[in-house]
Amino acid sequence: MRRFRYLTDAFAKLLGIEPRHVMLSDMREVANVCRGKPCIIRIDTADTVYELLMHEGVVKAARGVRGEQIVFGEDVFREVARKLPVVSKVLVLPERLLEWRDEDFTVYIRGIDMQHRQLVRTFNNLYRAMLEDDSRYAYEALNFLREYTVFHFKTEEKIFEKYGYPKAREHQEQHMYFVKQVEDFAARLRSGSGEAASSLDMLGFLAYWIKVHIQGADRDYGAWFRKEGIQVRLI
Ligand SMILES: [Fe+2]
Ligand SMILES: [Fe+2]
Repeated sequence: MRRFRYLTDAFAKLLGIEPRHVMLSDMREVANVCRGKPCIIRIDTADTVYELLMHEGVVKAARGVRGEQIVFGEDVFREVARKLPVVSKVLVLPERLLEWRDEDFTVYIRGIDMQHRQLVRTFNNLYRAMLEDDSRYAYEALNFLREYTVFHFKTEEKIFEKYGYPKAREHQEQHMYFVKQVEDFAARLRSGSGEAASSLDMLGFLAYWIKVHIQGADRDYGAWFRKEGIQVRLI
């Protein structure tokens, strides 16, 4: 899986918002700094950069980047407690990590836009499940995301074939890569290994990939069909 080195930066870029700097003196302040909203707290120390996903005063996931190593879980949280007081960066996250806006996402094919909306909705459900600590629902949401993306990718690949889209092969490779990543996440969630540990990385990867893929590769074919004057009918 492609990992982001620092998730605070990745989410800030994804959402187009800036983190604010906050001095944190004790763990009570860490718990309350986001006032019940979901957020990521980033703490830079001499050897490690810690990132905590918080919601309603509870740490939902924690990771630390130390050199080339990424560490997860309970230990990270205990380490953070020992580093206080620190200046941190706090990025408050919205209710939905991906927000559908026609002008950002449309590929000018109605049926495809509807599927993309569903994809965005499914991703946001998974994000909520992660925040609520509902691992059963998170697993179901991830599974639904996998099934829905397979169905959606097939729809796109069929219209590529039907209308002779020249970049079909490279596009299909992107789809295959994504499905493989989602299957890996699902296997990890099912086995319970590193469940909370990898959720921040998983959310970052999924949100980024879905947004970049729709706005890049998918809008590309939309533009090609328009240029060719093809009225696309879904199969
Ligand atoms: Fe798509
Ligand atoms: Fe696609």
